[in-house]
Amino acid sequence: MAKNTLVLVFHPHLSDGSRANLKLAEAAAALLNVTVRDEYALYPDFKIDVKAEQEALLKADRVVWQFPFYWYSTPALLKQWEDLVLEHGWAYGHDGDKLHGKELQLAITVGATVDKYRHDGEFGVTGLELLKPLETTAKHIGMTFAKPFAIHGMLGITDKELDKAVADYVALLSE
Ligand SMILES: Cc1cc2nc3c(=O)[nH]c(=O)nc-3n(C[C@H](O)[C@H](O)[C@H](O)COP(=O)(O)O)c2cc1C
Repeated sequence: MAKNTLVLVFHPHLSDGSRANLKLAEAAAALLNVTVRDEYALYPDFKIDVKAEQEALLKADRVVWQFPFYWYSTPALLKQWEDLVLEHGWAYGHDGDKLHGKELQLAITVGATVDKYRHDGEFGVTGLELLKPLETTAKHIGMTFAKPFAIHGMLGITDKELDKAVADYVALLSE
């Protein structure tokens, strides 16, 4: 049976500027086992409803953080979300076991091509190395860190390639 999945989308212009994340979010929302939350639409002022977010998390077996790669990291609202939602005594620390055993899946769109994210490439660092803070966060809150799903080369991707990547995402979310 497909995992009960919560997809949290962090894109500041999901409905008015995104090419990839909008397609991914719409495809995800069509799946019966998936709930999608457009976090920038919910919290344009960055005032996150912590209780609402925590309640949504409790219902899920798998949580997806879907976002465009910005400055080798996440968009700012995802950082804010981590700072506020992953509370002491809830997500970590004494009695902080609410997310234990759940899976964390990253789904990232990346402007540059994959060859640039190599030690001998333009950026001199791999994508997985750049994602270490998120992997360490998952470990700290007792979540399993799944192999990240990434679409590279967004700056030059064709519609056909993007459609294939969206189909791969749907297959992953349907597991
Ligand atoms: C503020 C900003 C920062 C970005 N930083 C990076 C980056 O560090 N590395 C990279 O490969 N692409 C970077 N990009 C490109 C985005 O990752 C790319 O445009 C996005 O994934 C495309 O998804 P979308 O069609 O849903 O907007 C950046 C784009 C913006 C707007």
